[in-house]
Amino acid sequence: MHRRQTKVKVGAKIGFIAALVGTAILGLSVPAGQAQDVTLDMAARYILETVKAFRTAYVINIVERVKESGVQSKEEWIKDAHAIPLPAQFVKAAGADISSFEIGLIGLTPVYKSNLPKTQAETDALTQLATDRQLSVLTFADGKQFKGVSADIAIVQSCVDCHNNHPNSPWRNFKKGDLMGAIVVRLNRPVK
Ligand code: HEC
Repeated sequence: MHRRQTKVKVGAKIGFIAALVGTAILGLSVPAGQAQDVTLDMAARYILETVKAFRTAYVINIVERVKESGVQSKEEWIKDAHAIPLPAQFVKAAGADISSFEIGLIGLTPVYKSNLPKTQAETDALTQLATDRQLSVLTFADGKQFKGVSADIAIVQSCVDCHNNHPNSPWRNFKKGDLMGAIVVRLNRPVK
């Protein structure tokens, strides 16, 4: 019993020293800008995970459920007392209420051109998500901002049906399970 405790103590000490050395090496080798990006990277991932979870809950627990009682999610919902916002409008409305960073939805073949990626780096990130479907989140520095994208998948058939039939849609070949675009978060990098 006594021996075991000693072992644990020695183990803890070695762990502590290793952590100190690790911190020292990290502190020496990571410039301040990159260290800030590490923090922004974490923030971007937390925000994306949260937005995605709320959006999924909206689709599964609200949109799909109220359908049974004849309430539809549709673009012109505001004019119809028996309608609720589209999933994309739900995210965009919440995003419009945020002032310290940006939340949005982008796509390579969007219904509206205003939902196209804003920079080449965003286009590249979307292309990468589309090419490697194992990826679900990507984060990257992009000029004065640090960004994250989270794959937006056609989780229910109605995503596909609506986009394929929307008069504005440039792409009419979506299938259930396809990547339709991404939730994007844009955080400002601290000015040096
Ligand atoms: C009833 C129609 C409809 C349904 C259902 C629908 N969408 Fe959309 N979606 C739209 C419209 C319209 C926009 C553009 C909204 C805007 O920017 O104001 C849009 C925007 C988007 C965008 C941003 C890029 C673009 O195409 O403009 C993504 C990504 C997206 N939807 C994915 C989905 C996913 C995933 C689902 C299912 C969970 C879904 N949509 C369900 C109509 C629909």
